[in-house]
Amino acid sequence: MTAHRLRPDCRICAGTSLVRFLDLGKQPLANAFTSPARAAPEERYPLAVYVCEQCWHVQLLDVVAKETLFAEYSYMSTTSQTIPAHFAALAREVEAAYLAPDDLVVEIGSNDGVLLRAFQGRPYRILGVEPASNIAKIAQERGVPTLNAFFHPATAAQVAAEHGRAKVVLANNVVGHIDDLPGLAAGVRALLRDDGAFVFEVPYLVDLLDKLEFDTVYHEHLSYFAIRPLQRLLGAAGLEIVDVTRQGVHGGTIRVHARPHGTQPVHARVGELVALERGRALDSLRPYHEFAAKVEALRADLVRTVRGLRAQGKRIAGYGAPAKGNTLLNYCGFGPADIEFIQDTTPLKQGRLAPGTRIPVVPPEHFRANPPDVAFMLAWNYEAEILAKESKFREAGGRFLIPIPSPRLV
Ligand code: TMP
Ligand code: ZN
Repeated sequence: MTAHRLRPDCRICAGTSLVRFLDLGKQPLANAFTSPARAAPEERYPLAVYVCEQCWHVQLLDVVAKETLFAEYSYMSTTSQTIPAHFAALAREVEAAYLAPDDLVVEIGSNDGVLLRAFQGRPYRILGVEPASNIAKIAQERGVPTLNAFFHPATAAQVAAEHGRAKVVLANNVVGHIDDLPGLAAGVRALLRDDGAFVFEVPYLVDLLDKLEFDTVYHEHLSYFAIRPLQRLLGAAGLEIVDVTRQGVHGGTIRVHARPHGTQPVHARVGELVALERGRALDSLRPYHEFAAKVEALRADLVRTVRGLRAQGKRIAGYGAPAKGNTLLNYCGFGPADIEFIQDTTPLKQGRLAPGTRIPVVPPEHFRANPPDVAFMLAWNYEAEILAKESKFREAGGRFLIPIPSPRLV
């Protein structure tokens, strides 16, 4: 049994008044794609979402040991076209805003180096920090200097001692994975120059609530951020949010620029999002309870839709095997009788079984050779890219089922 604990307190303010508003039951780890040879069922851990009544940070309290989740990792950033293009644009924005020749750019959770590669051939020093040894190795092979480590204050001190302080620290879709958020914020501040910037992206709570993206909840995602809890977290470490923009990737993300207090005026966009969050009453329990009720109804709708299609004799296959697909499939109770197989482009996932549901994951060639009637778009965050790529499947009569915010056949 892997180490797991129930945190007693909020990971931003340490408050102990936390309300559980969404319970997704006991679920296996969403990236634990298993070998068909393994007979034992995957281990399951409680998966429930809480909100802190003191700082209104939305979070999981069930914490699975980070070594279990991230020491080996099956997620690679470069498995789509959307993400590399998004990161190239981010790199150009950061370069224009902050960088001068010889500056150091450090990325936390640098994965396969996709973002840092967008700085290659430019006159800056780059360094990735990536805990997954298999992924860090791939980045190194691609010429991205990478420290194979978890980021915490000691890592920050080591990097600063060896390379000097950073002009820019980047972190994309990783802040929400970190249990010790005050340690992260303090480490970033210590690593940053006084004129530096911390630029990071996290999925936005408002998008999660609005689009019923309940499937983005899994054990790796410990936090679901809104601006005000973030301001509190960063402020305690001497950092101030100076700008924020909403981005379309991953179902709705915010790109946050934070700098040491007083470095630059705060852009009006920050206040606009704070006002939006006030308007949604995110500092009250109501929106969270409403969300949970809608998620229950969505589950019933998804089960009805899939079972209805099966009753008509339609064959259904999953399209994309993202971690969130496993939350959705397990929460709905689907298995191989409902979803025949899941096609995914990631070699590390192919030939394995989806955790919990034990649906086989196959390469795209299998999908092409055995097209189903309906492709369940589990990777709905790439809807545009996938629809463009699979025009032939639809011309031949195939349909995509898009699960959120309500099931839709296209
Ligand atoms: P992500 O949403 O966590 O980025 O994961 C997306 C998953 O979907 C990843 O395993 C790759 C897979 N995928 C496909 O199989 N085909 C595709 O066309 C795209 C865009 C993604
Ligand atoms: Zn709190």
